[in-house]
Amino acid sequence: MTFAAKRYDFRDQAGDYAALAEELAGLLQGESDFVANAANTAALIFDALPDLNWAGFYLLKQGELVVGPFQGKPACVRIALGKGVCGTAAVERKTIIVPDVNAFPGHIACDGASRSEIVVPLLKGKKLVGVLGLDSPRLARFDEGDGRGLERLASVFLDSVRPEDIA
Ligand code: SME
Repeated sequence: MTFAAKRYDFRDQAGDYAALAEELAGLLQGESDFVANAANTAALIFDALPDLNWAGFYLLKQGELVVGPFQGKPACVRIALGKGVCGTAAVERKTIIVPDVNAFPGHIACDGASRSEIVVPLLKGKKLVGVLGLDSPRLARFDEGDGRGLERLASVFLDSVRPEDIA
């Protein structure tokens, strides 16, 4: 299957996220493997969204977050629940937008180039599966519209995988 990456300028933010969600659903169609779909979801987001230096997953394993498929520089491997932006979004089960990572108490710096960040919790029903995190080398890169758009992409991903793979 050839897959032509589409670049989005997000001037029509809601429209571009809707188109990206369609593109992701098409990319994942027919495949239900968790790792494969997580890898392609991270790759599509990293390819389509401007001004990112990291995009990927942390998955809940034995009570802590462990890095999963991602795009970007090598990342911290394990994050305790309640720690950093990822651990906080996981515990609070809500999307966290950080305009300036240096102003976020307890921010975990994996890539020194990161200036702003957004983390979306992955919830399958009431079950916490992990988080989807994006970093940007630009201050205040993410807004509420990004939050809604990324939550939609996260649900397209979660709907594509086998429930039994969500241990
Ligand atoms: N900065 C995150 C850690 C993960 S890196 O961004 C890949 C945090 O504070 O949780």
